[in-house]
Amino acid sequence: MRAYDLILKKRQGHALSTEEIQYLIEEYTKGSLPDYQMAALCMAIYFQGMSEAETADLTMSMVHSGEVLDLSAIEGAKIDKHSTGGVGDTTTLVLAPWVASCGVPVAKMSGRGLGHTGGTIDKLESIPGFRTDLTNNQFIQQVNSIKAAVMGQTAALAPADKLLYALRDVTATVESIPLIASSIMSKKIAAGADGFVLDVKTGRGAFMAQLDDAQALARTMVAIGRNVSRRTVALVTDMSQPLGLAIGNALEVNEAVAALQGNGPNDLLELCLALGTEMLLLADRCADADEAADLMMAKLRSGEALERFGAMIAAQGGDAKVIADTSILPQAEIVESVTASQAGFVIGMDPLELGLTAMTLGAGRSTKESVIYPEVGLQLVKKVGDAVQDGGVLAYVHARDRDAAAVAKQRVNRAFELGDKAPAQQPHIFARISPEDLD
Ligand code: URA
Ligand code: CA
Repeated sequence: MRAYDLILKKRQGHALSTEEIQYLIEEYTKGSLPDYQMAALCMAIYFQGMSEAETADLTMSMVHSGEVLDLSAIEGAKIDKHSTGGVGDTTTLVLAPWVASCGVPVAKMSGRGLGHTGGTIDKLESIPGFRTDLTNNQFIQQVNSIKAAVMGQTAALAPADKLLYALRDVTATVESIPLIASSIMSKKIAAGADGFVLDVKTGRGAFMAQLDDAQALARTMVAIGRNVSRRTVALVTDMSQPLGLAIGNALEVNEAVAALQGNGPNDLLELCLALGTEMLLLADRCADADEAADLMMAKLRSGEALERFGAMIAAQGGDAKVIADTSILPQAEIVESVTASQAGFVIGMDPLELGLTAMTLGAGRSTKESVIYPEVGLQLVKKVGDAVQDGGVLAYVHARDRDAAAVAKQRVNRAFELGDKAPAQQPHIFARISPEDLD
């Protein structure tokens, strides 16, 4: 096989075979296929697309470019949940212990934050003592004993994806649905779960700002799952404003504890309940969605979901007192309010700007080397649709010093759009895509 012929074949719009895709990915991972040929191939894929079979082949070639976690020592169906990334997305912190308390094992690998989106690993590490650098063995043992563990993504998974993503980033070939879908699914599959619930976000704070694109990405990932025998369901959900009220690491742990106590913001609870219901169904824990939602609600009301969060924190070296007393979390020196300059309603919010503001305060990373300050971020008071008084508080800025707070306050103020009339209510979940919906 010659890379030149395969690039030409793709450029002319023909489908590559399983062997051809494997060859390209293997050679590229080894370093024997140069970046310029892979870049040309990515550009050809960007323009010509890929068939469902090609996309599945590309995914599995990337899976096999590195280590594949063997979770067979964990009893029962292992269901993973993945979000394409949003602002203030606190779901994993709530969902992992909640689903575990329903008897379904959650073996979750998570990433760190970059840019305007935060990472679950950074959030959990704001709990004093919490460790995410588990060995594979510790990870598996913890899931067997308490059914929930969250560890950092190991570098050994899907190395081909790491190389390709870096190349796409500098060759204007990130925005290709088959390339994005195979990139995400390869990392998920390599992490060893049997099934996946995907939360594909859409709106200004999301990677896929447009609903059609988010839907196309969701369908492509569900199709990959079907082709490689991993049960996969996707929800397309709203990221036109941040999720919940907290944006920032310790602030989001605080929000997760409140949610597990039954006092969380409605949009966060609603999304966690919907995703959890899908996880219970994929794991065959319940016969139908109503039964699954009822079980979830029973475990929330009984306090078992919250208790399980405590057990997970203790198992990973953290101070489990946090589930009863969040004042043990790091607290910002400076907390200042952002107030409305007119009465009316919140008619829009810019989640991208709010995410970037939290990042600039120190809640996230502008580069891989940035230092995280767990205590900083934004605590929203108002969301889209809420009424506001003239001078009423819209949000609190948690900062390390007054200068940073002053800049952040201005940005938050601009990120809120106020108007005279309440806007029409928007759904939080736009679509559910299961394998049955594909044909
Ligand atoms: N996230 C990924 O993991 N891969 C992509 O290609 C794009 C977003
Ligand atoms: Ca949140």
